[in-house]
Amino acid sequence: MKDDSIKLKRFDLRRYLVPINTAATQQLFTDCLIIGAGVAGLRAAIEAAGSGCEVVLISKKTLEDSNTWNAQGGIASVIGGDDSFASHIEDTLTTGCSINDREIVEQVVKDGPGLVKELLEWGAEFDKKQDGSISITLEGGHSHARIAHALGDNTGKAIAQALVNKVKQFDNITIIENYYTIDIVTDDDGKCLGAIGKTHKGMLEIIWAKTTILATGGAGRLYRETTNPEVATADGLAIAARAGAVLRDMEFMQFHPTTLYIAGASRALITETLRGEGAILRDVNNCAFMTEYHPDAELASRDIVSRAILQQMLKTNSTHVFLDIRHFDKDHFAKRFPLISEIVTSFDIDISKDLIPVRPSAHYMIGGIKTDRLGRTNIANLFACGEVASTGLHGANRLGSNSLLEGLVFGRIAGRTATGQSDPNGASLKKFRCDIPQSDRSRLDTVDVLNSLRSLMWRNVGITRLAKPLTEAQEIISFWQRYVLDKVFDSPAGWECQNMLTVCQMMAKAAEARTESRGVHFRGDFPETDDTKFKTHIEFA
Ligand code: FUM
Repeated sequence: MKDDSIKLKRFDLRRYLVPINTAATQQLFTDCLIIGAGVAGLRAAIEAAGSGCEVVLISKKTLEDSNTWNAQGGIASVIGGDDSFASHIEDTLTTGCSINDREIVEQVVKDGPGLVKELLEWGAEFDKKQDGSISITLEGGHSHARIAHALGDNTGKAIAQALVNKVKQFDNITIIENYYTIDIVTDDDGKCLGAIGKTHKGMLEIIWAKTTILATGGAGRLYRETTNPEVATADGLAIAARAGAVLRDMEFMQFHPTTLYIAGASRALITETLRGEGAILRDVNNCAFMTEYHPDAELASRDIVSRAILQQMLKTNSTHVFLDIRHFDKDHFAKRFPLISEIVTSFDIDISKDLIPVRPSAHYMIGGIKTDRLGRTNIANLFACGEVASTGLHGANRLGSNSLLEGLVFGRIAGRTATGQSDPNGASLKKFRCDIPQSDRSRLDTVDVLNSLRSLMWRNVGITRLAKPLTEAQEIISFWQRYVLDKVFDSPAGWECQNMLTVCQMMAKAAEARTESRGVHFRGDFPETDDTKFKTHIEFA
């Protein structure tokens, strides 16, 4: 296919964050190394192990620390009623604003029902209707109810648990938790040989692997306000960028309209399926405002609802709006949304009387490591899947609940391709040395840098973007990079800070370059979509 993408110059980045010397580093060998244990990593592990190869599956923290585990709404798939593949494909393309890869959309949608069935067989407790069929609900942008949910609003946990149980049935999968991957290691030809990381005991270790799959998940923690867990610090994107992988669509960060906004509460997601089932957005004056912004009101696409909320907050000079579910049956609510019920109850909110304070926050990184339809990156022996990858499914805007589906589809594909293309010469002991002079970081407070960075991203590279703040963000990040990226750290806090600065710079630069509005990328100074110049991707290549 013709490549008409806009190319931005790759940043000059130090190749590795730490010096590497195999003579002094603990080493491990495997056939397939999978970095990340959300839905995509777990599904990839099952597929790779099924072919008989040895798999090492790494989780940055525990298996429960992932965006997958926290997913509430569900998984989109054509399951019942008068829904059809054509309709799910059309909704995905319409929401994606003309830059999805149609072939990928068709594949993901068509693989959906089979993968949901497989999850059921593996023990995922999808909620059922009285007749025994899977219960489905609605989210914004979907023209049919097609969101399957499990354990009420604990869908991610139910899916992850089923996948973890399946993974544990394989003797040839080694799960390693609390392992921080610092970099993938490449040879002089740029071929991936595995990765270097820090074990839970604090030892540096190289894992030599015939193939490596990056499934490191999201980047919500780049923003002050986010639904994402602490692990979502964009590590995989920065690791890939340092190794020379092509990253694209970095301007497309999706903001979720409704995140709990209570002082002292973590910014918990309040699932869109609540709006799918009748929740109303009200401003601080009790006005239900969404119809002023879009005929689909509460069920308009997320970018529209997020911007509407922001505008209403400005109009009413308020820090938040409210979700109104006072008309919900309280017992039904507690059963259907047990997680949210527990959260709001813990803050003394009685849903039959009180409104739930919410505001938008960073939720899902649409851009990522460019892969082809087999999950391959431009680096030999390196594959990517899940949120860290850019497969072309989402275009410029992700349809809610399409991401768990994508994780399953491309986890399976990447696991299959990686084992099918395994390099017989990989995973052997190699001499490898890369020196970096030690640096003095005695005056550096990385927590302070990160707080400033996350606020800067929220202000300048947030829901509405403008040229001047985007340029200013890049200048400020460049300044911070000057004295952070040259340092050598020995713990995840420092490496995360370096990774986050790297990825934020790319996001600000891509957002500046796209002088139009498309999907989740809204430019206040260029509010129209410009198909003559921008009906394509922006790549760092
Ligand atoms: O609102 C939600 O439950 C989020 C779903 C998603 O991001 O896919």
